[in-house]
Amino acid sequence: MAALLELEGVTAGYGGGDILHELTLTVGEGGITCIVGPNGAGKSTVLRVVSGLLRPRLGSVRFRGASIVGQSPRAILRRGIVQVPQERSLFSTMSVWENVRMGAYTVHDRALVARRLHEVCETFPIIRERRHEPAASLSGGQQKIVEFARALMLDPALVVLDEPSMGLDPKTRTVVFDTIRALNQAGRTILLVEQNARSGLGLASHGVVLESGRIRLEGPGLALLDNPEIGRLYLGATG
Ligand SMILES: Nc1ncnc2c1ncn2[C@@H]1O[C@H](COP(=O)(O)OP(=O)(O)OP(=O)(O)O)[C@@H](O)[C@H]1O
Ligand SMILES: [Mg+2]
Repeated sequence: MAALLELEGVTAGYGGGDILHELTLTVGEGGITCIVGPNGAGKSTVLRVVSGLLRPRLGSVRFRGASIVGQSPRAILRRGIVQVPQERSLFSTMSVWENVRMGAYTVHDRALVARRLHEVCETFPIIRERRHEPAASLSGGQQKIVEFARALMLDPALVVLDEPSMGLDPKTRTVVFDTIRALNQAGRTILLVEQNARSGLGLASHGVVLESGRIRLEGPGLALLDNPEIGRLYLGATG
């Protein structure tokens, strides 16, 4: 698998010290890379480095072979890396439709915006069905789908998802994971952070276990799931 995104020797933190320590990670084009790890391991910090919200102190980040370190989040968006953050991020009083359109606020070609809106409605029928309703009137899982739709308005090459199943009931989680799989099958490369190691690694072509800002283990997702050490640490009895 060719590398779409490469982090090499990335050391980064927030002023109070380093959180990531010489992290080297490759996201293969066309795959699903999933990072799992305990709270505070630095998973979201990795994603902030990728989307340009946090500049690494050391190391390189390359997208399609070109360095993106020091570029603004907006420039990185334009290159085709779109992130759906861990916390809810819709404008709650705006309609579903307005929220999705916001995803294309940097696109000035109106015909293109209309075409992408049409495409996301084909992918996610709920967008059209609920388009006039305020985002806050949707369930947590439905809001996550609207966030995915908004991300797709930029036709990204890389979709970065930070704990998309957080706070959702098991049935809705399944819908979210099925959606991620479908997006990947439609050709999007996915970089996913997941607390639910079983679901995340079960989808992943490449899995990474992050602990205290360092990669502890990595390999094919299913191989990690079979790893007894991972089973003991992350999967427990119920997973
Ligand atoms: N804006 C910030 N300023 C200072 N420290 C931060 C900031 N954001 C995160 N941290 C610290 O960096 C460490 C890693 O945080 P991060 O959010 O990357 O962890 P995480 O693996 O995503 O955890 P979780 O599973 O809880 O989302 C934590 O110790 C956290 O307190
Ligand atoms: Mg996090």
